[in-house]
Amino acid sequence: MKLTVRVWRQDGPLGEGRFDTREVDGVEPSMSVLELLDRYNHEVVTSGGEPVVFESDCREGICGACGIVVNGRPHGPVKRTPACHQRLNSFDDGATVTIEPFRAGPYPIIRDLMVERGALTEVLQAGGHVHVAAGTAPDADADRITFDTAEQALDFAACIGCGACVAACPNGSANLYLGAKLAHLSALPIPASERGSRARAMLNEADLMFGPCSLHGECAEVCPADIPLVAVSYVNRERLRAGIAGS
Ligand code: SF4
Ligand code: FES
Repeated sequence: MKLTVRVWRQDGPLGEGRFDTREVDGVEPSMSVLELLDRYNHEVVTSGGEPVVFESDCREGICGACGIVVNGRPHGPVKRTPACHQRLNSFDDGATVTIEPFRAGPYPIIRDLMVERGALTEVLQAGGHVHVAAGTAPDADADRITFDTAEQALDFAACIGCGACVAACPNGSANLYLGAKLAHLSALPIPASERGSRARAMLNEADLMFGPCSLHGECAEVCPADIPLVAVSYVNRERLRAGIAGS
């Protein structure tokens, strides 16, 4: 199949951006959007140009590196699917595919499709970890967790940290991401005494970097990990709990 590909090119954070348009022929419906970019880059380099810069790593829907906007939607047209798994069979032969970077205040453009998503990492570094006493392995049943609690923690741990929720939000809020992390960690007794301080540190960091949540819901619509909108309720819940319980 043959596609017309419009790709955002920008030299740096302060550079003026523009779309570069090329016809890419001979692509297969089973190929991913990232493979389309690989083909696009082959055409660019063959004609003496600079390849478009974009991020990818696992290409298996695990790492969250592949943050791009395809035809106006973070990751692409298919729901619950990261860009590396978006197949070209979503497009008709001869269609135009427009590929842009995530656009959000906390994500300055580094070059072309690559944006700085370190603000997400800083939220995690502030408190998205637990301290575990090293040494002999504890008894398997030393910390009892119900099946439902373990399921809840695992469901919210599915967040791959791609940041699409922020890019989709008109406020640039990270509450879906933050709520998923807080819901995941607050469910586990590892150790529960850190729950309040951990939440406060993450909330403070997120308040500095991201916008407020007004429950638009676009975040959950584009989330490739299917994190439900209810995750944002954990932000206020943990904020309130940390304020009252203190720890
Ligand atoms: S909540 Fe979803 S969209 Fe947001 S960072 Fe996690 S996986 Fe990506
Ligand atoms: S490249 Fe890792 S999730 Fe897409």
